[in-house]
Amino acid sequence: MTKVSNSRLSLLGKRTHRSFLSRHWHKEALLVRGALAGFEGLFTREDLVTLAGRDDVESRLVVRTGRRYTLEHGPFRKAAFKSLPERDWTLLVQGVNLHSDAADALLRRFAFLPYARLDDLMVSYAVEGGGVGPHFDSYDVFLLQGFGRRRWRYGRQDDLTLRPGLPVKILRCFAPEHDAVLAPGDMLYLPPTYAHDGVAIDACTTYSIGFRAATHTELAQQFLDYLRDRVELPGRYADPDAKPTGEPARVGAAMRRDAVRTLAQVRWDPATVARFLGTMLSEPKANVYFDPPEAPMSRAAFAAAIRRQGLRLDRRTQWLYDDDAMYVNGEAWPWPSAARTALAALADARALPPSVAASLGVGVIKFLHEGYRDGFLHIG
Ligand code: SIN
Ligand code: CO
Repeated sequence: MTKVSNSRLSLLGKRTHRSFLSRHWHKEALLVRGALAGFEGLFTREDLVTLAGRDDVESRLVVRTGRRYTLEHGPFRKAAFKSLPERDWTLLVQGVNLHSDAADALLRRFAFLPYARLDDLMVSYAVEGGGVGPHFDSYDVFLLQGFGRRRWRYGRQDDLTLRPGLPVKILRCFAPEHDAVLAPGDMLYLPPTYAHDGVAIDACTTYSIGFRAATHTELAQQFLDYLRDRVELPGRYADPDAKPTGEPARVGAAMRRDAVRTLAQVRWDPATVARFLGTMLSEPKANVYFDPPEAPMSRAAFAAAIRRQGLRLDRRTQWLYDDDAMYVNGEAWPWPSAARTALAALADARALPPSVAASLGVGVIKFLHEGYRDGFLHIG
């Protein structure tokens, strides 16, 4: 299968990132022929079936019979694929970037957009006629064709009503404006809520580079969770002037006033929000576990090794930053003033060359050594 990390060809045809963002991003679909020339995908059918058998990988199987669809969630035993019909089914494997360096490298080619927006790489394998049906997604997506061909019909439409009673989201009316067959290396960008339907012409794989954006309600709920763990208000309700009541079931006005006054003391400022945002966005997905080295080097040996070989982030590490702090896998860290530029470069490029690693002071080495011992980053 193709290696993508060294390809120098533009993903967006002749467009610059700037012109793509201003003309297409969130606005118009874009079909790029030969976005990754020579790309045939990173995984075989067998690789995907193996991934779909793991319980730390999210996978789904969609089978179509006429206008009806069935949906099953993995993990799947290999034998399950032997009893499937010859056509009209597709296997979807989510988050493959967490399990393969080549898949992570493919996802990172979209780093002209912030990591905080990049969600995951999903790969689907479909046999002839397979697909998930006409639907829309709430997020932006790039659909990159691996091996085989797939016919995509797509377009903007106002009526996004779904057919009731189906296990998958299927549009009641589908009125595509465009119709195109994607061959290996072709790529289709679709803005959120664009209607689309991809049907395999022959056995094929599609790589979906997905983005994420919290709804305002999700953001608020997560912020309230964050505050809940940090809120501390002194005192407790007291009623030293209590009088006898003839309505013991009533919640009294004094108690209500006290609650209003107390809750008005729950405050936050932009710094609280920034810290919440950084930790929330860098939180690893639920099924992520890091593998610490079995025989970790001492700090001195680690320092010598990164001076020689540099270091790189584990593909599962989420390392973000803002002006105030760094956010590593859900934890906030103050910037070490002497190494701010180097660590921002590490977060952006996800690797640090030996020459820069050699310039790091003792405090930063200690911090990085702990990350290495936890499996967040690696030598080389
Ligand atoms: C697929 O790969 O079959 C589904 C991708 C999508 O429609 O978002
Ligand atoms: Co879709």
